[in-house]
Amino acid sequence: MDMDALKRQAAARALEHVQDGMKLGLGTGSTARHFVDLLGEKVRAGMKIVGVPTSEATRAQAEACGIPLTTLDDIDRLDLTVDGADEMDPALNLIKGGGGALLREKIVAAASDRMIVIADDTKWVDVLGRFPLPVEVIPFGLAATERAMAAAFAESGVSGQMGVRKGRDGHVFITDGGHWIIDAHLVRINDAPRLAGLLSLIPGVVEHGLFIGLASIAVLAGAQGIRVIERR
Ligand code: 5RP
Repeated sequence: MDMDALKRQAAARALEHVQDGMKLGLGTGSTARHFVDLLGEKVRAGMKIVGVPTSEATRAQAEACGIPLTTLDDIDRLDLTVDGADEMDPALNLIKGGGGALLREKIVAAASDRMIVIADDTKWVDVLGRFPLPVEVIPFGLAATERAMAAAFAESGVSGQMGVRKGRDGHVFITDGGHWIIDAHLVRINDAPRLAGLLSLIPGVVEHGLFIGLASIAVLAGAQGIRVIERR
């Protein structure tokens, strides 16, 4: 099965939730890219929406597609954010940040009345953690932050290797906010809300990739068709 075609199918289904006049959060990644592309077609056909991008990459794509953009300084709330995910569980808790945009993605999702997550169905898991958890950190005091993270992992019953993310060029990956990312290989996060709370208390942690209670709907495309799951 062509994964890219599945991603586009999920994006197309999410587009059905978009109505004229909406203020939209625009996600980041290869699946969200399809959504922005399809949204651009609607805009060029006359649909009136305004978007807030979750990364510089999405901003560049949205501008190229002719999508009018704004910021969270200029508007109050967003009606809907559509974004991808690296993993999602049956409670619609997510791991995000594989593309390094988790901070802006979470700010935008938290400012939205609804978040629709779009993905191919390989992203669906019983328990989060197979995908390494991205944690955005301040470079200052990195070792102290890593020690505090290890303590948070132990307190929530998980452990695993941590590593600072490198880009394709071998240099440390720098986020749009100028921070670094630590990827934590935890395998099985049995209590994701608890770990999310503990990580949020660490001073050197800017944000983490656990999205708890933010997604309202998941659209999953697979070989058998599209599955739409609503958070209970
Ligand atoms: C970027 C993200 C992406 O949404 C996530 O990595 C999924 O990406 P893709 O759709 O390419 O699989 O969180 O920070």
